Amino acid sequence: MKNLSILGSTGSVGKSTLEVVSRNADKFQINLLTANTNFSLMLDQIEEFGPKFVFLEDTEAQKSLLRELEKTKINTTLLTSEDQLMEVLADNNSEIVVAAMVGVAGLKPVYHAVEHGKNILLANKESYVVAGEILNSLSSVTGSTIFPIDSEHSAIHQCLEGVKDKDSISKLILTGSGGPFLDRDIDDFGNVTPEEAISHPIWKMGNKISVDSSTMMNKCLEIIEARWLFDIVDIEVLIHPEGIVHSIVEFTDNSMLAQMSVPDMKIPIAYGLGFPERIISGSESINLDTLRTLTFRKPDYNKFPALKLAKESIKEGGTSFAILNAANEECVEAFLKGKIAYLDIYKLIAKVLDKSDIKDVKCLDDIFQADKESRLMTREHIK
Ligand SMILES: NC(=O)c1ccc[n+]([C@@H]2O[C@H](COP(=O)([O-])OP(=O)(O)OC[C@H]3O[C@@H](n4cnc5c(N)ncnc54)[C@H](OP(=O)(O)O)[C@@H]3O)[C@@H](O)[C@H]2O)c1
Repeated sequence: MKNLSILGSTGSVGKSTLEVVSRNADKFQINLLTANTNFSLMLDQIEEFGPKFVFLEDTEAQKSLLRELEKTKINTTLLTSEDQLMEVLADNNSEIVVAAMVGVAGLKPVYHAVEHGKNILLANKESYVVAGEILNSLSSVTGSTIFPIDSEHSAIHQCLEGVKDKDSISKLILTGSGGPFLDRDIDDFGNVTPEEAISHPIWKMGNKISVDSSTMMNKCLEIIEARWLFDIVDIEVLIHPEGIVHSIVEFTDNSMLAQMSVPDMKIPIAYGLGFPERIISGSESINLDTLRTLTFRKPDYNKFPALKLAKESIKEGGTSFAILNAANEECVEAFLKGKIAYLDIYKLIAKVLDKSDIKDVKCLDDIFQADKESRLMTREHIK
């Protein structure tokens, strides 16, 4: 039995992870589940999976959960402070840490888990985007592994299995469905509503990543994530509306390997949980008889300018990733709350990047400082 700690268990990736766990109940037991406010779903998950520990970030939600737990005979300990959470993450029962919370709020626990040599299954791309260099060098010292469960990066990992010579890889091609506005007229982008932006045609995901998919900021973050994961600079994006091919690796002999499956996060999650073995994911298989066409096209950088920001940030390095990410998190939240228009998201991020000083990153605090300054500046512009 492998012991799992799932950070963000009440979210879309967290729930899919627990679905895979329940299909493989003989292989995994739950050590820790965490969330922000959703105490009622957490209670259901406690009843079903019997974790040793749970943690809720929000103190009011902690109180509500405690009241509910007191009515039962359940033997789960509710952690009430960040220190307690860090202690449980570091102990021997957290063998595998699934990082499935949203946003840079995941950075502290992810860093702590890497510091203590844990095997990380990474969905929380924001943390890795802003601190990839630091997390990679720390993991090489502590023996921690950072294993992708983002579908594109899982696909690349699968295509690279058994590849011994890194020089034989000529490029990585990250596919993307194009989101809900792939074919919407650019002149109509000013009218996009939050409801439309979170209605992804293929994937069912949390609100933040759904908005990021619609602006293609998600693909921008994924390029940076791929850069840190695979240490390869030549990374392209290809639009593939059917969402069947999850990414492609091209080799120096011009051969390409791609990974295909239905768009269902349970597949990359099961790959990560079972690796190096394959375990049951509970996903459907592709019906090749009815699958008539797979189409690919180049992305439209005028329509989705956020895509350009990945290469610029990689060139700039240092705190540019933290500034980019924080401005995006603030803008997406403001857009979802109706405080700014859809087109303001990119405009404000570009403005904040333009006005910020990019500094070297020597430690985690440099990242937190850049994150804070970028948020303050973005909020000023939002006002
Ligand atoms: N969804 C996908 O298909 C998908 C695919 C690839 C990668 N990802 C990445 O995976 C991550 C999670 O995405 P998601 O779609 O699963 O998001 P989601 O549905 O919004 O779930 C987010 C989870 O994080 C928790 N959370 C939110 N704020 C928190 C905070 N400040 N501290 C601690 N926990 C917090 C939430 O708790 P509450 O429920 O209590 O709010 C919830 O459990 C993101 O980084 C995303 O980019 C997602």
